[in-house]
Amino acid sequence: MGFFHEKENVEKYIKMAEGFDGKELIKELTDFLPTQSSILEIGIGPGVDFLILEQYFQVTGSDNSQVFVDRFKQRHPSANVLNLDAVSLKTEIKYQGLYSNKVLHHLSRDQLKQSILRQADILQTNGIICHSFWQGDKEENMDGLLFIYYTMEQLQALFQEHFQILKMEQYQEMEPNDSIYLIAKKK
Ligand SMILES: C[S@@+](CC[C@H](N)C(=O)[O-])C[C@H]1O[C@@H](n2cnc3c(N)ncnc32)[C@H](O)[C@@H]1O
Repeated sequence: MGFFHEKENVEKYIKMAEGFDGKELIKELTDFLPTQSSILEIGIGPGVDFLILEQYFQVTGSDNSQVFVDRFKQRHPSANVLNLDAVSLKTEIKYQGLYSNKVLHHLSRDQLKQSILRQADILQTNGIICHSFWQGDKEENMDGLLFIYYTMEQLQALFQEHFQILKMEQYQEMEPNDSIYLIAKKK
């Protein structure tokens, strides 16, 4: 059982994350992905970004925590939300875009490599990805939850085989330059 599979942890996380969203990130994405494109959000959590993405795109939400999936479905019964793991991404549908905000740092380095391969598989030709990460060069484990911080160089090395990086920038989530987002196109 992972951290986000426990109701208590989910409620704690939601309180802690209050006031944060991916509005700026999504605004950047709209420069590269046409409105009304199909997009899969990986790791919707409480669904704050899902509701913003919905204003621009045809969104499918996903998370591997059934607690988050059920919680969101209860509040938004008509939303399209799947239980999907970010590593295996078991879906037959090919999307025009993939989006995650502070999700992929919970994967091990090997799992992130597998996820990147699968992301290329489930994207249509010229598909676009937009992901954010914590910036740094360290690993932490908090109550069984893995956090891997990445530098721009490390992200470039990880994604460049399958994706052409269109934009990669540092930004502030809580402290100056604590985060990086990247937008890239499937090669
Ligand atoms: C920081 S939250 C994301 C918040 C979300 N972007 C929002 O707008 O509220 C991280 C999410 O990633 C999910 N997650 C972690 N590992 C995952 C995996 N292997 N596959 C799918 N989702 C995962 C967690 O369940 C959690 O919902």
